[in-house]
Amino acid sequence: MAIIAPSLLAANFLELGKACAMLNESEAAWFHLDVMDGSFVPNISFGLPVIEQIRKATTKVCDVHLMIVHPEKYIEAFKKAGADILTVHYETCSELANTLAQIKAEGMKTGVAINPNTDATVLTPFIKDIDLVCVMSVYPGFGGQKFIETTYEKVKTLKQIILDAHAATLIEIDGGVDANNAAALTAAGADVLVAGTTVFKAADPIAMIATLKQL
Ligand code: DX5
Ligand code: ZN
Repeated sequence: MAIIAPSLLAANFLELGKACAMLNESEAAWFHLDVMDGSFVPNISFGLPVIEQIRKATTKVCDVHLMIVHPEKYIEAFKKAGADILTVHYETCSELANTLAQIKAEGMKTGVAINPNTDATVLTPFIKDIDLVCVMSVYPGFGGQKFIETTYEKVKTLKQIILDAHAATLIEIDGGVDANNAAALTAAGADVLVAGTTVFKAADPIAMIATLKQL
C-alpha cells in the first residue's frame, strides 16, 4: 500500500483550513506542499507563511517540495515553518551533498526531486544520504498535467540503484497520478504517490485517497 501525499496546490486557497481538516480525516499520511519561485519553474505558488499556517492545522507529515533556485538559502526557514521532509531539485543544487547534510542537520528528512529529462543514475553517488527521491512525472510548475509514461522505467532504474546500495530511500511520484496509473506505479516500486487534481477535483476526495492507497 502506498503512502498518499495530496498536493494542496489543487485546493481552494480561500478554504485551506477546510482542505486541511478533510485531509486530517482521510487516509493520507502526508501533506505535499509545492513551493514555486517563478524562476526555476514558470509559475509562483506559495511560501513560508502559508506553510506555517498549514503546520498548525495538521500533525501529519509535511512534505515540502522546493521548486526554487538556491534552496540552500532557505533550509532553516522551512524547518522553522514546519517542514518534516525538505525536497530540493537536483537541477538547482551545485553542492548537493552539502545541501543534504544541512537539511539533515536541521532535523528534517532529505528529499531530492528529478525532472523528467534528468537521468535517475545522477543520484547514485548520493543515494545513501537521500530519504526520498521525488520522480517528476510531469514538467514541474503546474498541477493538472498529463502523466509522462516513461516514468515507469525510471522508477525501476531507481529502485535498482536503491537496492544495490542497501539504502532505505523512498520513491515518490509527482504529477498526473490518478486511479489509472497508481497500481502500476506501486508495482514498479513507488512508495509515495502525490496527487493534486485527482484528489481535490474528485466528487469524494476522502474516498479517492482511500482508492489510491489500495491500488
Ligand atoms: C507540479 C507539482 C505537483 C503538482 C501535482 O509541479 O510538483 O506536486 O501539484 O499536481 P497533479 O496531481 O494535479 O498533477
Ligand atoms: Zn510537487
